[in-house]
Amino acid sequence: MTVLPDSLAILVLGGGGREHAICWRLAQSPRCRRLLCAPGNAGIADEAECVALAITDPAAVVAFVAEHKIDLVVIGPEAPLVAGVADALRSAGVPVVGPSQAAAELEASKGFTKDLCAEHDIPTAGYRRFAGAADAHHYVAVHPLPVVVKADGLAGGKGVTVAETNEEGLAALAEIHGPVVVEQCLEGPEASLFVLTDGETVRVLPSAQDHKRLRDDDEGPNTGGMGAFSPSLRLTPALQQQALDRIVHPTLKAMRERGTPFQGFLYAGLMLTADGPMLIEYNVRLGDPEAQVLMMRLDTDMVELMWATATGTLADIEPRFTKDAAVTVVMAANGYPWKPVVGTVIDGLPAAEALGVKIFHAGTRRTDDGRLVAAGGRVLNVTAAGHDISEARALAYAAIRKIRWHGGHFRRDIGKSA
Ligand code: AMP
Ligand code: GLY
Repeated sequence: MTVLPDSLAILVLGGGGREHAICWRLAQSPRCRRLLCAPGNAGIADEAECVALAITDPAAVVAFVAEHKIDLVVIGPEAPLVAGVADALRSAGVPVVGPSQAAAELEASKGFTKDLCAEHDIPTAGYRRFAGAADAHHYVAVHPLPVVVKADGLAGGKGVTVAETNEEGLAALAEIHGPVVVEQCLEGPEASLFVLTDGETVRVLPSAQDHKRLRDDDEGPNTGGMGAFSPSLRLTPALQQQALDRIVHPTLKAMRERGTPFQGFLYAGLMLTADGPMLIEYNVRLGDPEAQVLMMRLDTDMVELMWATATGTLADIEPRFTKDAAVTVVMAANGYPWKPVVGTVIDGLPAAEALGVKIFHAGTRRTDDGRLVAAGGRVLNVTAAGHDISEARALAYAAIRKIRWHGGHFRRDIGKSA
């Protein structure tokens, strides 16, 4: 089962820029015979057959995979992982990249991760868990400031408030339905660390960093990410090693010991404090748009890499990445992140790509008469490589000038701080 077939049919779950970047690399492999993506988007349709499928329904995904004789499944977003889709595929004997439902708890429950850290001396902010907002009320009312109030479960990046006053903390608490985690506030620059693991072997990916705030100079509300660049010098090799030794490896070991080994991409959000790197949170998938710059730099056959991860043979393959830098600029629909205006027409992508960039699509679709229109919050990821970040940046922004779209906006400073 672990011998890599010459020719595979592959299914990717998801439909954002991250999945477009993954599909793009998979499609380039000579081993990729057939590539399907559910639900995909208008850009993914250039690399893969986009199919309708209930991607958070384990039984539906297993049935689809059997019907279409799929050899390998790669899961992009967290929702299918948290729903147990990887477990169902594994039980059916289908090689899959992505953690089990039990291992996806690392993202699905902040309380689970905090308890795991406490048990294994993994550095993270001091915390307390509460069953609900009412139970946490007194604790938040008197907590030293700033106080961090979090919804325990998945909240699409909107479940965290760093409150400067106890009143603000209480207001955030009132918005939370369900379990709550209250934390001490950590100080320092943030950095991300990405690894790929088959459960045993761990491959560390190059550094990458996103820009979370909506507007230039890190102003405005948090978003899913308005752009990203790689490499990022913030996580020095020494700090990266500390984060691996004190945070990532102990976590993976603990997950193995619990009988729920983690397999797939693990994304550690870190705070680089005066006392060394501390864990803010885990995501059980690649970041979006960080995946776009990592895929841009990938210099190893993606099918071979995903197959090795899915079959426990990652020890046999060391992923390579180019020495290039990469930058991706997110173009978002007007109104994002609140109420994006969809349906606006986008033109000029061929002229932009002719400059040598790759445009990954997030929320796009084709109308019946073949026009490309915005269909979501984040819409396009204009992704460029260069000898260094400033060269990649210049190319990405030159390409953006070729895109004719009146319904969108983007940051002008992506990669500037790199
Ligand atoms: P999370 O969804 O847990 O990554 O939190 C989102 C953002 O909130 C992080 O990227 C940090 O900027 C901030 N944050 C979360 N937890 C803390 C903490 N304990 N101390 C300071 N900032 C935090
Ligand atoms: N860019 C942040 C994330 O994917 O969660």
